[in-house]
Amino acid sequence: MIRVENLHKHFGGFHAVDGASLEIAKGSITGLIGPNGAGKSTLFNVIAGVHKPTSGRVTMAGEDITGLSPHELFHKGLLRTFQIAHEFPTMTVRENLMMVPGGQSGETLWNAWFHRARIEKEEAELLKKADEVLDFLTISHLKNERAGNLSGGQKKLLELGRTMMVEARIVFLDEVGAGVNRTLLNTIGDAIVRLNRERGYTFCVIEHDMDFIGRLCDPVIVMAEGKVLAEGPPATIMQNEAVIEAYLGRGLKNKVKAEAATLRNGVAG
Ligand SMILES: Nc1ncnc2c1ncn2[C@@H]1O[C@H](COP(=O)(O)OP(=O)(O)O)[C@@H](O)[C@H]1O
Ligand SMILES: [Mg+2]
Repeated sequence: MIRVENLHKHFGGFHAVDGASLEIAKGSITGLIGPNGAGKSTLFNVIAGVHKPTSGRVTMAGEDITGLSPHELFHKGLLRTFQIAHEFPTMTVRENLMMVPGGQSGETLWNAWFHRARIEKEEAELLKKADEVLDFLTISHLKNERAGNLSGGQKKLLELGRTMMVEARIVFLDEVGAGVNRTLLNTIGDAIVRLNRERGYTFCVIEHDMDFIGRLCDPVIVMAEGKVLAEGPPATIMQNEAVIEAYLGRGLKNKVKAEAATLRNGVAG
């Protein structure tokens, strides 16, 4: 669905993304992991049109989308959550959802004046859709809550909900679990899986929580120093020596190995 070819993003002399190539298969929940500073968010930013790449190519279903604006990509069904994460704090959760779809008839004064009936019909449809989304996410009880009062995790759910108000095809989630408690993280995980299975969403998910990645994602892509280091099913990836080394550094990896060996010997003796 998404193909990234030899992508570079330099900030001055610094190569944040340094020749990354990868594919996100249609219908997959692809995990993207790697140590801090690996270039994961920058890669997302380039794919989602926030940054122009220094060089390289991004295609979506064969179409070249390199350098398109976030707005253009939005209309192609490519969404990155942080873009729409800015909730309107004084509006209710339901109103936040109703703000998402573009191209409503009520947007111009002319239409407001002459097409009252149509606008009212559209609003009724939006309201119905918002309530369906809230039901899907199991947060109907929050619909009249001001968005500013939500917890961090609930805001992440709202973000996910906003992708459901439009025809999303592929959604990029950057650190969806950061600062989210375990229960809510499970709710978010369930919503992602259901959106994937029931609505055909493709996901690419950056997350540090390995349980979450292991439960949801296949394949998992590992980035380090701006490059793709490894790719595979989660079980394989988590045992991959190069991956462990990227996270821990060589010295620490050897120490962990030595400790594990001592522990085994101790138990055996
Ligand atoms: N706008 C920017 N200007 C300069 N350097 C940046 C910018 N954005 C990211 N970087 C640098 O690029 C590297 C990769 O960052 P990032 O993509 O956020 O990594 P990750 O998301 O994997 O933690 C970091 O060293 C970061 O400081
Ligand atoms: Mg990041």
